[in-house]
Amino acid sequence: MLEEIKSAVGYLQNKTSFKPEIGIILGTGLGNLANKIEVELKIPYSEIPNFPQSTVKGHKGNLIFGSLSGKKVVALQGRFHYYEGYDMQKVTFPIRVFALLGVETFILSNASGGVNSSFKVGDIMLITDHINLFPDNPLRGKNIEEFGPRFPDMSEPYSKKLISLAKSCAQKVNVSVVEGVYAGTSGPTFETPAEYKFMQAIGADAVGMSTVPEVIVAKHMQKACFAISVITDLGVGEEIEEVSHEKVLVAANEVEPKVTALISEMIKSI
Ligand code: HPA
Repeated sequence: MLEEIKSAVGYLQNKTSFKPEIGIILGTGLGNLANKIEVELKIPYSEIPNFPQSTVKGHKGNLIFGSLSGKKVVALQGRFHYYEGYDMQKVTFPIRVFALLGVETFILSNASGGVNSSFKVGDIMLITDHINLFPDNPLRGKNIEEFGPRFPDMSEPYSKKLISLAKSCAQKVNVSVVEGVYAGTSGPTFETPAEYKFMQAIGADAVGMSTVPEVIVAKHMQKACFAISVITDLGVGEEIEEVSHEKVLVAANEVEPKVTALISEMIKSI
């Protein structure tokens, strides 16, 4: 895997000497932030050696280098999910690549189902912590010492400093936010009513199908992470409403401008 990662990084470094400081990974229906980037270089995933390919509707397949709010960023417009059939190494491949390109801060977004009874559809949740419910861990197997320790610390998976910055930026751009714990599951099924109850019982506020593997790998390399989850449906109460990918897309698209405004404001101060 190390060689595959290095060959992707080598390919990108041959194309550009651009050194991004911030890595951005946008979730379902939230890819529009990438359009605010002053593009230096846009590369389809298909051109990058060993890079996984996106298969989900609503996820574009481009790596974008450029400036956002005056900072050098690299963005993954469309991420890779475990449910697509990739193993955890592939799901987290771009995180390793970004880190080797110089990224020190990761900003991620996703769509999720709210299980906190005070949440509403359209809420923007700052992720304060996560619960890994995936059937695998991206760090299982031989540890690559070059990247990080065998047993990584996870006491601050989401940077407290960045959460605090997000709260002050949210006020500045007049966006209200909530905070909570994100449970990451493999999907692709949405939860049964009993599973939503379980999520609530174990201390989750929202449940989704991404982000956790990426944050684990970023933390392995001791990078700072910040993540936003848009609540696109609710798994609370006795009657759980039907949920579909289309519903998730519609709800995420609606809130997307607010998420974009918030992240753009934050990046100014990172
Ligand atoms: N469950 C899991 N993943 C999701 C959900 C959900 O309710 N909504 C959006 N992504």
